[in-house]
Amino acid sequence: MAAKKYIVKKGKVYWPNEEMKKIAWVKSDKIYREASKSPVKFWEKLAKEGIDWEKKWDKAYEEKLPYFKWFKGGKLNFCHNALDRWAKETPNKTALIWIPEPLSERPLKITYMQLYDAVNRFSNVLKAQGIKKGDVVAIYLPMIPESLIAMLACTRIGAIHSVVFSAFSADALRARIEDGEAKILITADGYYRRGKPEDLLHKAKKAAKRTTVKRIIVVSRLGQKIRGRKFLDFGEEIKKADLCYPPATVNSEDVMFILYTSGTTGKPKGIVHDTGGYAVQAYWTTKWNFNLHNDDIIWCTADIGWITGHTYAFYGPLLNGATTLIYEGSPDYPDFGRWWKIIEENHVTVFYTAPTAIRMFRKEGDSWLKKYNLDSLRVLATVGEPIDEEAWLWYLKKVGKERCPLIDTWWQTETGGTLINTLPGIGPFVPTVAGKSFPGTKHIVVDEQGKENKKGESGYLVQVSPFAPGMLHGIYKNHKKYVETYWRFKKYYDTSDGAYLRNGLIRVTGRTDDVMKVAGHRLATAELENAINENKKVNECAVVPIPHEIKGQVPIAFVVLKGGKGSEELEQELKRHVDQKIGPTARPERIFFVSDLPKTRSGKIMRRILKDILKKEEPQGLMTLLNPEAVESIKDVVAGNQ
Ligand code: WT7
Repeated sequence: MAAKKYIVKKGKVYWPNEEMKKIAWVKSDKIYREASKSPVKFWEKLAKEGIDWEKKWDKAYEEKLPYFKWFKGGKLNFCHNALDRWAKETPNKTALIWIPEPLSERPLKITYMQLYDAVNRFSNVLKAQGIKKGDVVAIYLPMIPESLIAMLACTRIGAIHSVVFSAFSADALRARIEDGEAKILITADGYYRRGKPEDLLHKAKKAAKRTTVKRIIVVSRLGQKIRGRKFLDFGEEIKKADLCYPPATVNSEDVMFILYTSGTTGKPKGIVHDTGGYAVQAYWTTKWNFNLHNDDIIWCTADIGWITGHTYAFYGPLLNGATTLIYEGSPDYPDFGRWWKIIEENHVTVFYTAPTAIRMFRKEGDSWLKKYNLDSLRVLATVGEPIDEEAWLWYLKKVGKERCPLIDTWWQTETGGTLINTLPGIGPFVPTVAGKSFPGTKHIVVDEQGKENKKGESGYLVQVSPFAPGMLHGIYKNHKKYVETYWRFKKYYDTSDGAYLRNGLIRVTGRTDDVMKVAGHRLATAELENAINENKKVNECAVVPIPHEIKGQVPIAFVVLKGGKGSEELEQELKRHVDQKIGPTARPERIFFVSDLPKTRSGKIMRRILKDILKKEEPQGLMTLLNPEAVESIKDVVAGNQ
């Protein structure tokens, strides 16, 4: 049978066709106008329909900027919504498909009932360790089913999870444990990556030393025996545990999780998300963006260490009672056909990934795609950074065979769920354009003074009140930073992204602050500079991003030494140091040793000039520099090294 087609091309733009309209939850753009009449009422209706509440809220929305609360007085349990109701209704439906990396291991399918059983038991394991409502639990796990079990168990208890990306270093994990004062750490002995076992436990042990972590619960993924007073074996404990743990009742505005992300300073910020509002936005954005139905199998390739993994690999699909797929390993193992093989074998219908992955596959050529049948796909989506037209078209044509809507979703760790994208039943699907604000939310583009740019000029992308229900509830224990980072326009939430409007649709152009997106990962230049500056030989340094054909951006470091000359060895040493402080995702692409950095008279490093030099453009505004002569010498170093 020929695969169904869901889109039609008109000019350079795609629209949903009749086939799509037939299955779409929302198919008329009236929804935007209706929602904007009273966004709060709109979200109230969605909250009632999508989520089970133990007690209805007293007040749907309360705003005392810079804070705002959704569904105040409402009571619920998140785990009940993501798990219990489906374990009752569709116990034998697959909740999770797990694809281990080694081809010798078989995929695992876990039903809602089995997941229910495991989560109840693991909640009791946590309880036995003294974990109760409001405690912070650090989770440092790879893409394995135990991640989902651990996270859901936290939400069942009302404990706050703080998931840390497994490729982050021991130092990075330690900083997050300390900031959150986590009582317990859940990790694994390791995982498989590119055919090889990766050790995780040694990093976890190192990170937890002399911190608030009293116990480490370890999943034995590689078959190591877990020993020592401080350690518990996840598998053994779960077997011994009691089968029933009644879900705790929490307030809508109680904290559900913290997730650290990079800001403009060296220190990662703990983004706080509360329960009820997040649940509502996660439920509805998943349902409408991906047009999720009962028979859908959604694969969001993001790691659970990121917000995308939280909301669209796990929580959104489960809140909808759908089937979600996760894959442990690398996209190129054993070859570049692996992802397409997974889609074919598991009949994946919704595929959500990052532009950096698309660009990598595109570079590897179409031959890998041709080996597999991707007819099961219905909706394609991307997230994480601006997507270029070539990558967008390749994805739409080669992966989606020009059959499936392609949704470019803009959002952030801070927003909890997607906010700007086209809906599959409404369209249009336009390359490089994210689209409209999700119904019930509003974004505008403003100038430096916060005045709206109505004529399509570029400016700052901000969100307008009432702020979306899934939005952050502050930065963990740092009110000052919260105000400084997001509220410089006072009444608008500053996204830190640039954007402009085109035919009423929003095109996001990228960050306006010192934050890079490297292969979709968010990284502050200051974090990298701090790491490099720690080396005894380094006097000072500056890091700037440059465009990269696959990763989008990569960091380049300019280093001034205290004395002596730079060398290949020292470059390697500094890269290793960055691996150790942050993780390999942050490793600079190149390090240039220079004698001076361009500075203003007040001593501020002019990164813009470094960027110009790297782009081989003539830097402007040298007159204001304290040391204009530095520029020529940096140019020489860059030229000589390239
Ligand atoms: C930043 C947020 C949200 C999940 C993953 C990233 C950039 C994200 C898009 C998009 C252009 C995008 C922005 C944003 N970004 N999606 N569709 N088009 N830019 O979350 O790590 O918190 O990063 O990613 O710059 O501010 P994050």
